[in-house]
Amino acid sequence: MIIRQFVLTPFRQNTRIVADEATGKAICIDPGEESSEICDYLRDNRFDLLAICLTHGHLDHIGGTHFMHDSFPDAEILIHKDEEELYYALPQQPLMMGIQPHQLSAMGFDYADPPRITGNVVHGESLKVGNLDFEIRHCPGHTLGHIVLVEENERAVFTGDCLFSGTIGRTDLPGGNYSRLISSINQNIMSLDDDFTAYCGHGPETTIGREKASNPFLTGSYQVGMH
Ligand SMILES: [Fe+2]
Repeated sequence: MIIRQFVLTPFRQNTRIVADEATGKAICIDPGEESSEICDYLRDNRFDLLAICLTHGHLDHIGGTHFMHDSFPDAEILIHKDEEELYYALPQQPLMMGIQPHQLSAMGFDYADPPRITGNVVHGESLKVGNLDFEIRHCPGHTLGHIVLVEENERAVFTGDCLFSGTIGRTDLPGGNYSRLISSINQNIMSLDDDFTAYCGHGPETTIGREKASNPFLTGSYQVGMH
């Protein structure tokens, strides 16, 4: 499995191309913003982009979908059904987050309507990319329709904004729910073996073992709203 990471947007979001070395089949997980560098990388390596797979619909994870779709129109655009409303609200999202209209273009947030979704991923589904096999797991809590992708053989999980190294995703935005996020993480991510690498939506990667041992939100040493 080849993973190439691009850090994009003022939010320093991790956009990734994940490819199967043997077949050249690839997906893009969360194209955060317009980037010709990513499209050049795909072309230079002759990767066959099967899908743009979105962990969730926040602007810093989907902002580049339009640009990538224009460059690779045959690639599917996949998202969970519960996330569609947020996805299609992309042009309104910066205002919902308190960014002022006059700041939009300077920050790269003056979005057009995103392209049509071509398919919904569902919990338990297998997404095959050449020899790679990603299991989709629905992990609500950061947003309603957040998903993570698990590649068992490669010992990898792509956690989006559910889990980060040493912390968890925020739950104060629309659709967020703290206790739901904690149970999503425990059921669908912490249940993986300790040697799995977690590729997070922001910041460095980590391992399940490390998070189990030291993430204060999961060890119980920091319990927001429990008192
Ligand atoms: Fe997010």
